This record gives sequence, C-alpha cells and structure tokens, in this order.
Amino acid sequence: MKKILFVTSEAHPLIKTGGLADVSGSLPKALAELSQDVRLIIPNYQGLKLNNDVHTLFSMRVDNMDIKILETRLPDSSIPVWLVDCHEFFNYPGNPYTDEEGNPWPNNAERFSFFCRIAVICAMDKIGQHWKPDIVHCNDWQSGLVPALLSLEKDRPATVFTVHNLAYQGLFSASRMVTLNVPGQLWNPEGLEFHNMLSFIKGGLAYADCITTVSPSYAQEIQTSAFGYGLEGLLRHRKDNLIGIINGIDTDQWNPETDGYIHQRYNADSVHDKVRNKTELQHRVQLPVNENVAVFGLISRLVEQKGIDMVLDCLPEMVNMPMQFVLLGSGDKSVEIRLQHLAELYPDKIAIRLGYDESLAHLIEAGADIFLMPSRFEPCGLNQMYSQRYGTIPIVRKTGGLADTVIDTSTETLANGTASGIVFNDAHSGSLLEAIKRVMLLYNMPEQWRKMQVNAMRKDFTWRQSAQAYLRLYENLNKH
Ligand code: ADP
Ligand code: GLC
Repeated sequence: MKKILFVTSEAHPLIKTGGLADVSGSLPKALAELSQDVRLIIPNYQGLKLNNDVHTLFSMRVDNMDIKILETRLPDSSIPVWLVDCHEFFNYPGNPYTDEEGNPWPNNAERFSFFCRIAVICAMDKIGQHWKPDIVHCNDWQSGLVPALLSLEKDRPATVFTVHNLAYQGLFSASRMVTLNVPGQLWNPEGLEFHNMLSFIKGGLAYADCITTVSPSYAQEIQTSAFGYGLEGLLRHRKDNLIGIINGIDTDQWNPETDGYIHQRYNADSVHDKVRNKTELQHRVQLPVNENVAVFGLISRLVEQKGIDMVLDCLPEMVNMPMQFVLLGSGDKSVEIRLQHLAELYPDKIAIRLGYDESLAHLIEAGADIFLMPSRFEPCGLNQMYSQRYGTIPIVRKTGGLADTVIDTSTETLANGTASGIVFNDAHSGSLLEAIKRVMLLYNMPEQWRKMQVNAMRKDFTWRQSAQAYLRLYENLNKH
C-alpha cells in the first residue's frame, strides 16, 4: 500500500473552477478503491464548501503568521483532506485564483509559494502525524514549487507532477525569488528560471521524478513548439520520465441513471427517454419546446483554448438549420458580449447562460443531442466524456484528450460499433461548420444515431485503468 499526498489547488465538491477539481475529487477516490492510503492537501479558501466535520490537526508559526493544518474528509468518502489555513493568504471571497471581477489576485506568487512550502512541511512529516508519504503527487503550477523544494530535502518522498494545462505556468518577475524566500540554488536555467522570469511550473517539470499529462496525445503535443510554450526542449529532454495517462470521470456523479440534477433518468436501453430532458432544458432556458429540433450544448470556460471564436463564426449559419444552441459558461468578457448579442438576435434559437451552474451543466449534458467542443488544444477534456456517457454526441477537434476519447463516425466505425462522435481536424470555422453539417445529416438518420448513442454510452470512462496506471508509476518510482 502506498501513502500518497495529493497536492492540488482545487477539488470538487469543495471548490471548482475547472477540470482539475474534477480530477482531484475523483482520482484519489479511485486510488483509495485500489487500497491506497491517499490524503489531499489544499488551501483553506473562504469559498470552500465544507460541512461541519473539520478539526485542527496542527498549529504552527511560519513567517510570523499563525497557521493551522485543518482536517476534513472529501465528501462521500473517507479520504482525509488537509486544509492549509492562513487568513492572510486564503481568506478572501472570489475563486482560488481571481477576485470576483476575474482579476488574478496580485499576491498569487506569495499565496501559492506559501502553500507549496507548507505542503513540503507536511510531506516531510513535520506536523506530528507520523505519516510520511511515499509519493507526493502535485498538479499544475500552483503546486509546482513542491518538487523543487523537496529536491533539497534528505530522505524525501518521490515526486510526480501532473500537467493539466501547460498554458498556465505561474510566471512571475525574477525579483520575487527574494520576497518568496525560495532558496537561491533553485534559480538557474535548468531550474526555476525561464527567460529571466520565475516559473512555478518549471519547479514541477525540472525537479519531479516523473511528469505526467492527462492524455497520451497531449504528452506528445507538448514536446513540440506548437504546444510547448518554449518548454518543449525541457519536456523532450525529460521524455523518458514523461507519460500521458488519460483522465477518468466520476461515474457516480456523471451517471444518467442516477443523476439527481436531471429531469428524467435513463440508460443505454432507455435512451429514448432522454428527450424528456431536452424539453425540460428548452423550458428552463426559455427556448421553444420542440422534441424534433437538434439541440447543441456547450459548457465551458470562455477562453481562447476552447475555440469559442469558431463557434461564434458558425452560429450565423447554424441558425438557418433546424437546431437550437444552449451555452453555459463564463470568461472572456468580449466573447460573453458577442454571445449575448447573438442570443438577442435569435431568441428562438440561441440561449446563453453566463456564470457557473452545476445543475444546468448536468441538464445540458442530459438534454442536448450534440455537444460542441472544438478546442484549439485540450490536455484531456472531461465534457466530451460526460457527453458520451449521456448519449450526447460530441463534435470535437482532433487534439489532446479529445482525439484519445472520441471515435469519429464513418461507415467503418458504424459497422464495428465504435462510432461515438464527430472528429474534425483543422482549427478553422470552415472545418467546424462541415462537422456540424455532417452531424445534422446523421441526426436525421435515427437508426444510425441510436447506434452512435449506445456506443458512446457503453464506453468505459471509469478511473479504474488510469488509477492502476498511476499506481504502477508510483511503484516504479519507489523502486529506485
Ligand atoms: P477545463 O478544465 O479546461 O476547464 P475540462 O473539460 O477538463 O476543461 O473541465 C471543465 C469542467 O468544468 C467540467 O466539469 C465542466 O462541466 C465544468 N464547467 C465549466 N464551465 C462551467 C460552468 N459555467 N458551469 C458549470 N460547470 C462548468
Ligand atoms: C485542464 C485542461 C483539461 C483537463 C483538466 C483536467 O484544465 O484544460 O483539458 O481535462 O485540466 O485534467
């Protein structure tokens, strides 16, 4: 049995801004199901959704501040979660990274370097728990300094660093090295330095014993200049210690048979019942209720990565088709304005809901016929897997985890029972529009459509195999 400390800046259902939270809330559970001893550590943000089961584990003074390690459990599990309680850095409203207006907190470098230092103290068993992990598993730049700092410790645990998104690197001015109290020997071009900036993500990429990414395709892509943001050289250099392990999904939460957020539950044998979620969705977002029209869904952070600009380009053509479009998301203000403008122009066709809404997200997955995910890059992506599980056919671009989890529909894949979506190649609105036309043809072929839905719903997206892959990796690391 391995002792694993999972270091993360968000975990569902405690706090979530994106897929990292989904993974942090579900991979530890899958590891626990494989009989591993996993604990999470995250900052005690003001916005955490905690129940009453929280107690103090340890108190200490660091940098002249009183801080505590609190302990709670990941809801619906027995997995301990350690909360780094420091009012100065984490007791603000807003989300983990930004204020309520979406501006990054000006002291993010201080906040997350502090979090990393405390995680190292815990990892070195200096909080009186007599629990020293075999593996410290870090995620994205917010925990990037952990492998770097641990590399300076004797008898340290092995470290794994998972890249969920290389686009976010935690780059700060070099002068922060001093104010952050980061040991000077980590400052060099092979270490935390990146073009004279301090790079948190390099702490993971340069110092972790092993790097993983969240899909095999993305592991290859980030070794190229198109996806590497200047880090491709380092990643190629470390390629023997870099692997892609596809994410799973939490099949308890995302299960159309038991989902408490949706109007009508269903499974692959009763997929015809899905239409009752469609009419409920139309009703909820005030679109004309019509069982026959093809409903396109999209749930996303509205950022360049997600290819929303291509969707905006296609919408004026799409409204001439027998379709409706429902989007739930938030992000780039100019994109939000353009979307709202289109919804005002075509109120019978387009419904836009800005903001974060978990219940509506589930209803869109259940109620839409087609899910749009034309990302320019996508390390893994979760919604295309949720969609398939709900018999909602995804249209995805052939990149990263989208390429690894959706099988394009062709005569061949329909015949061999693998067709589960539509995959297009080029990041151009013209290619997306062709894919949309292709899906509309298939939507009007009920027998084929039903086959695609059932293929998609029967696919195995559970964590089991991926959790086993992580476990093999942990075991190999501890051999050396
Ligand atoms: P990323 O992490 O890049 O945002 P993923 O596909 O991995 O992309 O995960 C996004 C997660 O966040 C999914 O669970 C998705 O349903 C959820 N999500 C994104 N935007 C919203 C929103 N506005 N309301 C509710 N859930 C959202
Ligand atoms: C990131 C990626 C997304 C991935 C998620 C969880 O946010 O953008 O593709 O699914 O992390 O690994």
